[in-house]
Amino acid sequence: MNFVECQQALDAADQGHVLKFWEKLSAEEQKSLLEQITTLNFDDISRMASYLDDKGQAAVQADFAPAESVELTGDERLKAWERGEALLRDGKVGIILVAGGQGSRLGYDGPKGAYAIAPLTGATLFEIHAHKILALSERYGKPVPLYVMTSEGNDAATRQCFADNDNFDLPVEDVHFFVQGKWPALDPDGKIILEAPGRIFFSPDGHGGTLSALLNTGMIADMTSRSLSTLFYFQVDNPVVEIADPAFVGLHDLRNADISLKICEKRDPDEGLGVVVVRDGLHGMVEYTELSDAEKQRTDADGNLWLRYGSIAIHVFSLSFLEQEARADLPIHVAHKKVPMCDVDGKTVKPDEANAYKFEKFIFDVLPHANTVVNLVCAREDEFSPVKNAEGADSPASCRADMSAKFARWLEQVGVAVPRDGDGQPSVTIEIDPMFALGPEELRQRLPEEGIVIDDDLLLGASPCEV
Ligand code: UD1
Repeated sequence: MNFVECQQALDAADQGHVLKFWEKLSAEEQKSLLEQITTLNFDDISRMASYLDDKGQAAVQADFAPAESVELTGDERLKAWERGEALLRDGKVGIILVAGGQGSRLGYDGPKGAYAIAPLTGATLFEIHAHKILALSERYGKPVPLYVMTSEGNDAATRQCFADNDNFDLPVEDVHFFVQGKWPALDPDGKIILEAPGRIFFSPDGHGGTLSALLNTGMIADMTSRSLSTLFYFQVDNPVVEIADPAFVGLHDLRNADISLKICEKRDPDEGLGVVVVRDGLHGMVEYTELSDAEKQRTDADGNLWLRYGSIAIHVFSLSFLEQEARADLPIHVAHKKVPMCDVDGKTVKPDEANAYKFEKFIFDVLPHANTVVNLVCAREDEFSPVKNAEGADSPASCRADMSAKFARWLEQVGVAVPRDGDGQPSVTIEIDPMFALGPEELRQRLPEEGIVIDDDLLLGASPCEV
């Protein structure tokens, strides 16, 4: 849009102040500001402003109950596994990796996926995920396309990280990057915030932005042209995720689900996991921040937590449902935050207290629209160890220990003795590259017949000579 068009659009939306420093801007700054204004979606902005009346934090109605969950065992598990394998063998499965977040709690500057996490090699989160996908496509003899969602702030660095590592050996045509949307922040009067005279303050539109971004960037068209039916979705911060777990993908398909979620038992009542609930006959997610203490602590007749399971943000979507939801408006969540803002003279001021509202969409807000939802219980120690905090729980240290412990269990399952300390923890560090084995079955095939003896740290690397 040119200046006049931008001015008209802003005036119509009562946001004319965005151009108040126009005369003071250089030609380059003017050009950039017009580009920023062109990206604004004024329908979204008026929706955001309408949320400011109640700050979007409508109280969670009390009339919800935990959603039904499934535990897969025996024959049922086998059937699901076989169906999932058939889908992978037919090339029907794609992977969506959400990596647009800012990693601020971890205190790491780059894209979180570039964080070195493997306990011995220091392989990054991206490398571990990519090797799992490569191993899957080799195992099933079909491409498993990867769609990586970035945000404006980390897109270039993410692409660079893949390029610097030869795409972690994934075929270039099977890896797509797409950038999620961005939204302006609003002041308490619903006005767009300028962080500098020629710069609107933007932030990523939340992982719910995955859906519209998939559509707007042509990813859904790519999925359709590949005849994919099933999309496995996960967050970048969890290196023990079982990507496209055939049993999970297969169960989703057997039940004709729109969306399936992996859930695990909460570590304690206060753990920061969302809970899948049913309210008025519809599924939904209640975020941990929305639960009262009484709801968190409540127990059932067996003494288990009433809200026993949390979502670990690992989902399977049917492509048709994904596309339907990409065209729908998800609800908007509001957060009161500190946002840098320019004063009347155009000087940027960093506030000491929350001064503005930031907005996000959440992927799990599609739940009420789904006809069939499957919640599959999984073992936390095998599938969920996110890197979220710099120290303590869910930190790099806890995650490395969890990775090593998981590999130790695999080795023991195939008959290899692992030295353990007095607390039962492995006393050596173990790392197994997904290209060596994706699980105990492959590990059994790859290890020498006479087995191995572990008396020191053990690395089973991507190439066989590293055994
Ligand atoms: C999230 C979920 C929570 C779940 C938990 C499991 C929310 C609000 N809550 O919490 O229900 O139990 O994970 O680990 O999401 N991301 C983007 N773009 C964005 C924002 C986030 O791509 O605009 C990505 C991040 O890169 C990350 C993921 O989404 O991969 C999760 O974001 P994060 O802020 O870490 O969510 P949590 O609060 O930990």
